[in-house]
Amino acid sequence: MNSINRRHALLAGLGIAGAGALAACSPGSGSGSGNSALVGPSGSAVAAAEKKRTSTGRQQKLTLTAAPAMIDLGGGVMPRTWAFDGRAPGKEVRLSVGDTLVAELTNQLPDKTSTSIHWHGIALRDDMDGVPPTTQAAVRAGSTFTYRFIADAPGTYFFHPHVGVQLDRGLYAPLIVEDPKETLDYDDEWVVLLDDWVDGVTGTPDEVFAELKQGMGGMGMDGMEDMGGMSMKFMLMGAESDLLGGDAGDVKYPYHLVNGRVATDPNVYSGKPGKKVRLRIINAGGDTAYRVALGGHKLTITHTDGFPVRHQEVDALLVGMGERYDVLVTLADGVFPLVALAEGKNANGLALVRTGSGSAPKATVRPKELDGVIMTASQLRAADGVRLTSAKTDVTHRIKLTGGMHKYNWGINGTPFDMNDPDAHPILVEEGQRVRLDFVNDTDMWHPMHLHGHTYQLGASGPRKDTAIVLPKRKLSVFFDADNPGQWMLHCHNAYHGEAGMMANVAYREN
Ligand code: C2O
Ligand code: CU
Repeated sequence: MNSINRRHALLAGLGIAGAGALAACSPGSGSGSGNSALVGPSGSAVAAAEKKRTSTGRQQKLTLTAAPAMIDLGGGVMPRTWAFDGRAPGKEVRLSVGDTLVAELTNQLPDKTSTSIHWHGIALRDDMDGVPPTTQAAVRAGSTFTYRFIADAPGTYFFHPHVGVQLDRGLYAPLIVEDPKETLDYDDEWVVLLDDWVDGVTGTPDEVFAELKQGMGGMGMDGMEDMGGMSMKFMLMGAESDLLGGDAGDVKYPYHLVNGRVATDPNVYSGKPGKKVRLRIINAGGDTAYRVALGGHKLTITHTDGFPVRHQEVDALLVGMGERYDVLVTLADGVFPLVALAEGKNANGLALVRTGSGSAPKATVRPKELDGVIMTASQLRAADGVRLTSAKTDVTHRIKLTGGMHKYNWGINGTPFDMNDPDAHPILVEEGQRVRLDFVNDTDMWHPMHLHGHTYQLGASGPRKDTAIVLPKRKLSVFFDADNPGQWMLHCHNAYHGEAGMMANVAYREN
């Protein structure tokens, strides 16, 4: 019996199809079907790594209930969606570095939908990473699961489910880990959460995925003009962006939200002229990169993906799905648009900064800063304190990004990932190794590549990040220290590409 069949047989035998690997093997053993030499999520190495994390001993307890809800996006837009505790975005979670988060998730989603929570960007213990069936059994409808972990690195993060395309519903919220020894000097902060919105307006993310999965193959390239007749309700054609090297995205979104508000009825930040504000910008979108600028202001980039960089002044930022940027701005006097241009999609999200009198700009305002100086992540430098020590690389993995729109067969190294057989093609590492990943983008699209449980460094001195844009037909080398044993997803943070199979399992071998 091959490993896929064996796994299915085991699960069927237990009467809990889809419940995952944990049910199928005893805690502490290697996880999965064919590969007992891998560190499992409940292995002793995982507990040992958690022990090494600096803890305040303080617990932050909260409950999160995932359930259907009608939410108010402003401007009379009130879609039905799935949300945490009836609101989307969910309520911000804030910890101090070293605190233990104790989050009890209750699943009240309809139609026997199982779910999970992934704490995006946090290097936490593997069994709390929220990836069924690899790191835990899926949280079934009607049941509860408690996440409990130490967050030992400060920064700007967020959380979302790691099941199907639930990320593109309303199930997301910011997660901020504060540093009591913060050295950055600012007066106030403002979390700016970006999201592309379809759910409950033109359809659901599951319907979007079903349409995309049909691919463009059936139509033939000559048939492109006929596409209108092929009922392409969600697929976006001809989204072009120079910054993204061509095709910008796959999905038509009726709205682009900043802090859960549509552009015609924006969120307003009120402050005083001259004050210095830290913006924590998070792209929680499913298929949209945002070009972000604040009219009349320069932005000083201080962090990306939670980690500090050498400060860099820019006019605008490009933020891929799953990426975060922290910037400082010194507020001018008046009313200013914070615009999140849906890159290549000819649409935008909007919020306002108000420090004085003035009338609000139009929802479609395009401040000139959007076309000013933009620095992408590969032009930034890690701050001195977080640069990786120089060390020889112990292992290099070539991560070829493969597939395309034609068959919607996005994959890694030619194989779409199979969630039911997560150990089939592991990217093997060992604790203590310096690992190099060479992303080789063989496709015609850009991909924001996210690694769980680690913060890699771009090149020899680039920023520390957990999500980085890899442009079409280009290469990107990243380095990390294998210091967090377990099994960790490495995937495109385009919700639809990831779900189609552009995902792999970076698995620690027992050593
Ligand atoms: Cu934002 Cu695999 O995650
Ligand atoms: Cu992708």
